[in-house]
Amino acid sequence: MAKNFKLDLTHRLRRLRRQPSRRALVTETVLRVEDLIAPLFVVEGKDRPEPIASMPGVSRFSLTDLVRECRELQKLGIPAVALFPKLDPKLKNANGTEALNKTTLVLRAVRAVKKAVPELAVITDVALDPYTNHGHDGVLTAAGDDVDNDRTVAILCEMAVLQADAGVDFVAPSDMMDGRVGAIRKALDATGHTGTGILAYSAKFNSAYYGPFRDAVGSAKAAGTRLLSKATYQMNPANRREALSEVALDEKEGADIVMVKPAGLYLDIIREVRNATKKPVAAYQVSGEYAQIQAAARLGWLDLARCRDESLLAIKRAGADMILTYFAKDVAKALKG
Ligand code: PBG
Repeated sequence: MAKNFKLDLTHRLRRLRRQPSRRALVTETVLRVEDLIAPLFVVEGKDRPEPIASMPGVSRFSLTDLVRECRELQKLGIPAVALFPKLDPKLKNANGTEALNKTTLVLRAVRAVKKAVPELAVITDVALDPYTNHGHDGVLTAAGDDVDNDRTVAILCEMAVLQADAGVDFVAPSDMMDGRVGAIRKALDATGHTGTGILAYSAKFNSAYYGPFRDAVGSAKAAGTRLLSKATYQMNPANRREALSEVALDEKEGADIVMVKPAGLYLDIIREVRNATKKPVAAYQVSGEYAQIQAAARLGWLDLARCRDESLLAIKRAGADMILTYFAKDVAKALKG
């Protein structure tokens, strides 16, 4: 019976999967090197890259190494980097004043990279967490029981102008204070930086997956603060409609690109945002997503290259136009073949 069994089928979707050439013809999503943004960590002094234990393959670079790395990334075809400074703890204080030092590490890094590799787009984070000793993304109220939204935004505006002065292509407010995109747009325009873009971390969730990043920049403290949680400004992972409100506001306030972060666990948000806006959509495959894949691969439980590529393809398929990922260089190399 089983031997002669034939279904009377008009549609057999497997016809399109029969061999690589057929599958190639009907591929809907393609990951390109042009989609990738490499986040890079920079540290003072030191002539050798400092490995980050919880992010295998990722290091903090001195300025010299950073410039060398950026040259390589640009040659591989990666269009942009996002720079994150790790500060000497001695430079941190409650108000994060080092952020407004005109010669602070990240500004020197921007100048060095833009001078050496001007074609490469440079993005900098606008947030106070690398600069505050409490690790929060802003300054605290007098009572110390909240991040002071409006005072923080005033500082972010100054920070953004300094970053624009240094030559960044995009400033990226990642703090989730209300009204910051509009205020930063105004501050940039008032200082003649009409050409500097804003990549807004519009839907940034209060995620446990930022853990390795906080090791990398030394901002882990806030995550453990019992009195004040980052949940008072970053979004509740339970909320989808609220993400659309955040995106709509940022768009109205002048964001050039809107972002969803993390990426892999928030594919539904990426898709909703893609459908709701005509702006380009970025997604951030965060440190914990990277660490998870690396760890499982190290244990021999998952195939690193295949999981890496599949994770990024899924983010693109969900609707992201560009992806910040710690895999950027590896993927660029793999795509080059
Ligand atoms: C801070 C910032 C964070 C990340 C990017 N910018 C961490 C946080 O909000 O505590 C996380 C990136 C990652 O985990 O890879 N403004």
